[in-house]
Amino acid sequence: MTVATVKAISQPIAHKAKRRSSVLIIGSGIAGLFCAIKLARLNKNTKILIASKADLIEGSSKYAQGGIASVWSKIDTFDQHIADTLEAGAGLCDPKIVEICVKEGPKRVGELVEMGVPFTRSHSPLNPDFDLHREGGHSQRRILHADDLTGLAIETTLLSQARELEAQGQIEFLEHHIAVDLITEEKARGKPSTQIRQPGRCLGAYLLDVRENRIVAVESQVTVIATGGAGKAYLYTTNPDVATGDGIAIAYRAGAEVGNLEFMQFHPTCLFHPKERTFLISEALRGEGAILKNLAGESFMEKHHPLGCLAPRDIVARAIDKEMKRTGDKHVWLDLTCSGLSKEDIQKKFPNIFQKCLSLGIDITIEPIPVVPAAHYMCGGVKVDEHSRSTIESLYAIGEASFTGLHGANRLASNSLLEAVVFGARAAETAAVELSNRASQGETIANEIPEWDSGQAVALEEQIDIAATWLEVRTLLWNYVGIVRSNRRLERATRRLKIIHEEVQSYYWTYLLTKELIELRNLILVAELIVNGAQARRQSVGLHYTVDYP
Ligand code: FAD
Ligand code: SIN
Repeated sequence: MTVATVKAISQPIAHKAKRRSSVLIIGSGIAGLFCAIKLARLNKNTKILIASKADLIEGSSKYAQGGIASVWSKIDTFDQHIADTLEAGAGLCDPKIVEICVKEGPKRVGELVEMGVPFTRSHSPLNPDFDLHREGGHSQRRILHADDLTGLAIETTLLSQARELEAQGQIEFLEHHIAVDLITEEKARGKPSTQIRQPGRCLGAYLLDVRENRIVAVESQVTVIATGGAGKAYLYTTNPDVATGDGIAIAYRAGAEVGNLEFMQFHPTCLFHPKERTFLISEALRGEGAILKNLAGESFMEKHHPLGCLAPRDIVARAIDKEMKRTGDKHVWLDLTCSGLSKEDIQKKFPNIFQKCLSLGIDITIEPIPVVPAAHYMCGGVKVDEHSRSTIESLYAIGEASFTGLHGANRLASNSLLEAVVFGARAAETAAVELSNRASQGETIANEIPEWDSGQAVALEEQIDIAATWLEVRTLLWNYVGIVRSNRRLERATRRLKIIHEEVQSYYWTYLLTKELIELRNLILVAELIVNGAQARRQSVGLHYTVDYP
């Protein structure tokens, strides 16, 4: 959400509509698209609606730089990838999920290759087909990448595959449709009569068609949340505007279990520049020998971890935070000039980062890059089992919006895209079985879900300062629920969020919906859940570091 768009005055909801589909996937990032393509191929009769609140291509997927981790080289093993993932996760990973993800990884990456993803090639005898990068916490080179634009390469390949399935009538896109709330059996019956939640089955979702300004009630047999992360809850983030935690908020409101939201991962190296506050400087640069230094030119990571600059991300981000607090400096340097890579190698390996920095007056081949940590990845989310099923029947969650147990207290670099494809495929396989069981029981989709009820809401005739509230929440989280936490700061955050929550709830029920209001409401709920999680976890572990339980 940009400041320019948030002050729009809302118009009355023009009309309502109803849609039916076997499957509704909310989100068109790598997780949502991979799941849709697999499901469409598994079952040719399945009709899949993919809703996306912005342009289809917009989401964190498109910005992924480093790549996708998978055991590929001849000297790498599943055991090593499993051990690295468990080590980064600081004891809180689910070992069964880690094993599934690592072992199914090469198969899913192979499918991406077959679909045409242009991973960078190599001629090394150890990995004769694809070039492999190394990133923090990895004991081996195992990151397949497409230069430094891996996410864009995967996302565009998947989109073109999905477009083919659209031409065959199996997939339909609902672009610029934002999911407002899920429709559960409980919701369809009316407001819950007791405090004990009994959501029952998920029957679909209400979407706001942003361009037509109408609410579409989609009835589906299976609903998949693939809405990505929640980096926009923080003032400084590498995430795009769409990352407002919507899927986590709507699932929680519907009664699904969510978890581990206190584990927001801060990427150590986001570019520090007045004109560019979200651009990532990939960890792959450190994998190629770039060194973190303070402004006095001293390398400092050796003091914090035997792996130095290639320590797991939580440790590197905390070390930078500490160094900046100690020196009072606003950033540190990431120096690629000491890597031994030639100018040509740097330009060839990191063309996107090279060009972007150059456009801002920084030549990374001859000078260090100013960097700071920024909120990057949500390790928690909607709790799911190994088949991507949430705690609500017929509701699945995949990708960054989900909490599979893979990442524990801290995600290993480049395991996110891997999780998106492994568990996206698992969701597709399980949903295909669910749909065929339901078909054999003669189930059709005609439950007659209720239409959206706008109640007494009126069109918003005055500007409400959504932008200011948004900024307040993001600043609050950055200052009080950041890299280093304390009980006192968390209590302060709770008190302030409660007031903001009440104010926004009153807007929400009084005025007709806009995309901005929906996102703000979700962001506040996710912020509260992050703080609740942080308060409940009375220990320092992985990404949750508190001075009260050091
Ligand atoms: P996204 O790609 O974020 O897609 C979410 C989709 O949901 C979007 O289409 C969005 O419009 C839609 N959506 C959201 N809310 C709603 C709603 N209410 N209604 C309808 N639609 C909605 N991971 C790696 O493994 N390797 C990397 O190299 C790497 N680099 C990264 C670099 C950057 C700069 C960033 C930000 C992240 C990086 N990550 C990386 C993390 C990784 O990119 C993401 O975790 C992953 O792409 C998430 O995919 P996704 O499909 O779950 O979500
Ligand atoms: C990066 O390229 O540093 C991002 C990798 C990741 O987030 O996994």
